[in-house]
Amino acid sequence: DLYGATRRNPLGRDYSRDSERTTARLAADLGAADTISAGPIVGGRLLAGKGPQPMTSPVDRNRLIGAVSEATAEDIDLAGRVARAAQPAWDRKGGAGRAVVLRAMGDALEAEMDRFVALLSREAGKTLNDGVAEVREAVDFCRYYAHLAEKQFSGLQPLTGPVGETNHLELRGRGTFVCISPWNFPLAIFTGQIAAALAAGNAVLAKPAEQTPLVAAEAIRLFHRAGLDADLLALLPGDGATVGATLVGHPLVHGVAFTGGTDTAWTINRQLANRPGAILPFIAETGGLNAMFVDTTALKEQVVDDVVVSALGSAGQRCSALRLLFVPEESADELIATLVGAVDTLVVGDPADAATDVGPVIDGEAQAMLEEHAGRLEREAKVLKRVDPGAWGARGNFFGPVLAEVPRADFLGKEVFGPILHIYRYRADELESIGRQLAATGYALTLGIHSRIERFAEQVRDLVPAGNVYVNRSIIGAVVGVQPFGGEGLSGTGPKAGGPHALLRYATERAVSVNI
Ligand code: SER
Repeated sequence: DLYGATRRNPLGRDYSRDSERTTARLAADLGAADTISAGPIVGGRLLAGKGPQPMTSPVDRNRLIGAVSEATAEDIDLAGRVARAAQPAWDRKGGAGRAVVLRAMGDALEAEMDRFVALLSREAGKTLNDGVAEVREAVDFCRYYAHLAEKQFSGLQPLTGPVGETNHLELRGRGTFVCISPWNFPLAIFTGQIAAALAAGNAVLAKPAEQTPLVAAEAIRLFHRAGLDADLLALLPGDGATVGATLVGHPLVHGVAFTGGTDTAWTINRQLANRPGAILPFIAETGGLNAMFVDTTALKEQVVDDVVVSALGSAGQRCSALRLLFVPEESADELIATLVGAVDTLVVGDPADAATDVGPVIDGEAQAMLEEHAGRLEREAKVLKRVDPGAWGARGNFFGPVLAEVPRADFLGKEVFGPILHIYRYRADELESIGRQLAATGYALTLGIHSRIERFAEQVRDLVPAGNVYVNRSIIGAVVGVQPFGGEGLSGTGPKAGGPHALLRYATERAVSVNI
């Protein structure tokens, strides 16, 4: 049962039921927030590194939430040597032995859900609901990969062969994996990559996104407290150009897992290609240019709900988020009017307030890029709605959601990462050419279809390549083990995160034939 139907999902939370007390409790849970120190953690020790730099919250630029030091080249060397010494024993433990530790991490995270939700809100600007979903996803990754480790990495798999010869296949860890993770899921993707690499028998050198080292440091500390040999998992914060590049080029590294922008994936891929001495596996999950196609049979209210959450939820900062909505000419006016009405009711503001729908974007750079794109929309498209973030706009990195109608189906050539939805009215005879245009972009991550006609759904599915297709629902929030997640082409290499094949590229296969 590789699909893990017997797993237990962690329970969620409904903070809105007791909003005031909840906010106070979340703040208390995070009591030490102002003093969270992140930096290189090797063998369970926080090293001095280079720095420290103060960290502020995207919610409020004046609010200090901790400090981070960058890993030096010496820290990375040390982490590589410590990992190499510890990894063989971890690999020999086998899948079942490693599963015990990963499950302990899942349980520990579940027990500390509120504290991590509070930290995600402060450091990454996540709304409470998004924070809860993220902690649950991190827990799911630990439990799901524990389950796969047990099933796939326990002992030798017998093969058939001639009489007198025994043949077996065995999966082993490769050695040390570098895991480079994004700021938009600073806990779930961070934990998911690490859990996958560990489950397959590897040691891990983890580089969190520069914007979110605090939640990463807390997750590393929890792994260690949950019983993982601290030598197996190091945290090496810093930027991509120095720390990332040193890690990727390090001679003690045997594979790289990366989630983030497509351009960075290219850079890493080129660096790996030029590395002497070995051909290393590279697992990349990158961006998308995600579309949803609606036809005249779709249920309007359902479409509107699903579009709002897919495009503007999490401030549009998901690689799975909806960027391009294709509505049929015949029902476009009505659908767009309802959509504008729904967007008008969105509350933009403090993500720690249970009433907030849309929190800040991650940093000033993201905000400036979105402003620039909004300027292009003002000039070249028709802006239907722009939500004003009000007083919050002055305090933090807020960018109010935008709906715009674009004049051409190929208006958007690349991913714009934020709460902006592009809408195009299509004629039935344009469907094929739109599909070809989307396929030609090279991205293939998520795809949405809203229709009551099976034939229409099939047609769109055949036209537009995508790793995850969602019919008559939202296109975000893939659940571990339920919607294995990841794209093709410019959107990623696979294997899918949270899917039954996730661990295999983190492993080597060894066939052993014995002639008796
Ligand atoms: N896995 C997330 C989702 O499905 C995106 O990173 O929304």
